[in-house]
Amino acid sequence: MSHSPIGIFDSGIGGTSIFKEIATLLPHEDIIYLADSKYAPYGNKSKEDILKLSIKNTELLLEKGCKLIVVACNTATTNAIDYLRENYDVPFIGIEPAIKPASLNSKTKAIGILATKGTLSSALFHKTMNLYNEGVTVVERVGEGLVPLIEDGDLESETLQSLLQTYMQPMIKANIDYLVLGCTHYPYLVPMLKKMLPEDITIIDSGLAVARQTKAILESHNLLNNSKSTPKIEFFTNINPEVLQSFVNKDYEVSYSDF
Ligand code: SIN
Repeated sequence: MSHSPIGIFDSGIGGTSIFKEIATLLPHEDIIYLADSKYAPYGNKSKEDILKLSIKNTELLLEKGCKLIVVACNTATTNAIDYLRENYDVPFIGIEPAIKPASLNSKTKAIGILATKGTLSSALFHKTMNLYNEGVTVVERVGEGLVPLIEDGDLESETLQSLLQTYMQPMIKANIDYLVLGCTHYPYLVPMLKKMLPEDITIIDSGLAVARQTKAILESHNLLNNSKSTPKIEFFTNINPEVLQSFVNKDYEVSYSDF
């Protein structure tokens, strides 16, 4: 079982930001990545639909023999991970916005969170918020429209820039010193964000924390692949593979699959 692949799924290309951290920390693990771009964005869908899509992706990864599944999508994590953990035998790693480090380290006592509607309205998000937001002003913004633009692959478009400006203005005004990226697509906006935000705002995402957690869970379940072999990395997408290919190393094979 330790030689089986790690499975990762996302509503599209966003989870590749998590994939990169995992592949760097665990360079000998085989990985299968599913980009469910045909159904992106998840962020505006009902909880029932997000659950159905998460089940579909999970079952496909299990058919492919995955030993652990990373739900590399904040929206799917907040809406489906409890169900997945209760109903399937493999360990699941979820992505939760890094509210805790932002709140604990904030000096201005104001932090910003950019996430999808599905994440910000979920019970799991509110539970996390209530645990860590004492004495801190939290400026939440739904990143409406960002995921489809990122899925299009043009990370420098004017539309993207002007939407992001709109979402950042209230945060800058509230004097935030931490911006939490609560969607795995958003790390791809960091270069643009850095140009528009004051230098003293720290941007944090969950990528490295998720990779560390994946390693810790593999270790505790005796599932770590200790061989030094070259890993097999496979990407599957249910739309034209070109965009996904442009987000990952050109040597990785990206295949179309009708899931
Ligand atoms: C989306 O599909 O709307 C975004 C996925 C995420 O929340 O990470």
